[in-house]
Amino acid sequence: MSDISIDAATGWWRTSIIDIHPGSIRVRGYAIEELIGTIGFPDMIWLMLRGELPTPAQGRLLGAALVAAVDHGPQAPSIATARMAATCGVGLNNAMASGVNALGDVHGGAGQQCMELYAAVAARVAEGLSVAEAADREIAARLERREHIPGFGHRFHPVDPRAGRLLALVEEARGEGAVTGETAVLGRAVEDALAARKGKRLPMNIDGATAVVFAELGFPAGLGRGLFVLSRSVGILAHAWEQSQQGGRIKGPMPPSVPYRYEGAAPRPVPGDGA
Ligand SMILES: CC(C)(COP(=O)(O)OP(=O)(O)OC[C@H]1O[C@@H](n2cnc3c(N)ncnc32)[C@H](O)[C@@H]1OP(=O)(O)O)[C@@H](O)C(=O)NCCC(=O)NCCS
Repeated sequence: MSDISIDAATGWWRTSIIDIHPGSIRVRGYAIEELIGTIGFPDMIWLMLRGELPTPAQGRLLGAALVAAVDHGPQAPSIATARMAATCGVGLNNAMASGVNALGDVHGGAGQQCMELYAAVAARVAEGLSVAEAADREIAARLERREHIPGFGHRFHPVDPRAGRLLALVEEARGEGAVTGETAVLGRAVEDALAARKGKRLPMNIDGATAVVFAELGFPAGLGRGLFVLSRSVGILAHAWEQSQQGGRIKGPMPPSVPYRYEGAAPRPVPGDGA
């Protein structure tokens, strides 16, 4: 093989994330043995995704958002799917992957969509509208298209206890100069605009609040769902493990004594000789 083709092969995978040599592992230039025991896991996530270490206040806020979304109980499809898979004789990794694969545009995707919504409102503000006007126009356009506004409303919680706490932490971080607080203002304006348009309050939920946090911290919207998956994976692992320890076998979504509803054809003979 010529030198040129070796060079081409070396450049096939290019990365700025990690540099590994015998006896040496450097992440973004930092020796792993110096990172170990020095930084927390949220800081490591930040370093991996952003290339630099966060300030302590930024790391704390990212960690708070990741804590907030870990779990929403066995009725959340991602958790239920992982628990069902765990009773089917697959490994823990398969059970986790099953749960993660249930996270899509509708379940688990609202955070990223909400980051895009805040960006759309910010773009209208950049064009010269006030925050209130920008939020109202964006919400009006989406309601006109009969869309649900991502990050607002909750089927179970009249007020999502996670959202208020996260917004309070954003405010704290603003006081420390770690964030500007501008996306939090947009989020509250969206909540007000939605309430005014719908004639009822649909409070910001966990996805609306983590979207505020991630955007305030400068994460691009495209990373929103990935960050949510990191957080929810912890709950998925815990539930898959708990279920595997409980030892149930082939558990479906309901106890077999609870029937489902059949809506198909009435009993009928198969056409042909035997009919
Ligand atoms: C979470 C959610 C599914 C809960 O829905 P729900 O309480 O079952 O509410 P429904 O979808 O049955 O809607 C009930 C009414 O509230 C309205 N509504 C609820 N959430 C809404 C939202 N985010 N945007 C606009 N309208 C909303 C519905 O349009 C409907 O209004 P109507 O009575 O005028 O027809 C819903 O709020 C939603 O889709 N939110 C956006 C997605 C999201 O943030 N998901 C993450 C949840 S943690």
